[in-house]
Amino acid sequence: MLEYMILIGVVLIGGTAMNAIGVNAAWLVLPILICTIPSVYAFISGAPYLPTDISTLLKMLKLAQIRPGEKVCDLGCGDGRLLRAAADLGAQTEGFELSIFLFLLARLHGNGNIHYKNFWNADVSYADVIFIYQQPRAMNRIEKHIWPNLKSGCRVIVNTFPFPNLEPALTDGHVYRYEKS
Ligand SMILES: C[S@@+](CC[C@H](N)C(=O)[O-])C[C@H]1O[C@@H](n2cnc3c(N)ncnc32)[C@H](O)[C@@H]1O
Repeated sequence: MLEYMILIGVVLIGGTAMNAIGVNAAWLVLPILICTIPSVYAFISGAPYLPTDISTLLKMLKLAQIRPGEKVCDLGCGDGRLLRAAADLGAQTEGFELSIFLFLLARLHGNGNIHYKNFWNADVSYADVIFIYQQPRAMNRIEKHIWPNLKSGCRVIVNTFPFPNLEPALTDGHVYRYEKS
């Protein structure tokens, strides 16, 4: 939602400014389309942007039991809200995001290392805690390709869509905690 509001803002303000200096505002469309391509890929390969609400965020933090100094990742970090909360608990945080607008927003909020990067290509084998909020098809793929490479003791905290074949160690409503043995 926020992403689309920013887009509309860019189009309106940019279009007006361009008209004012006598440049055809249609030229705005091309860079915007180019910026949107990775978001479309993220939508298909992971999930569209849907921020974790505050009550779910608190449940995720409770299940994560983050200790100061631990390394916490968010695969598709959106505006970085989970990482910000983890950083407040003393964690070292790292996020991956493919939407340019959300990446910039997360960076603006200044929480840890935010990468404009496809999380399918990220090495998160060092993480103590991983947050995931992706759609079921992606959860299946994460279970097959990312889960096997996680370090022993890693806690994976999942919002809404559980892993299809793994048994959670703990559950709180639609939040699931998995522990890598
Ligand atoms: C449901 S939102 C969750 C956002 C955030 N983790 C939260 O809980 O508020 C999913 C996010 O993952 C991002 N995403 C999806 N696929 C991705 C990929 N392959 N690499 C990086 N980010 C991705 C989307 O752009 C979106 O921001």
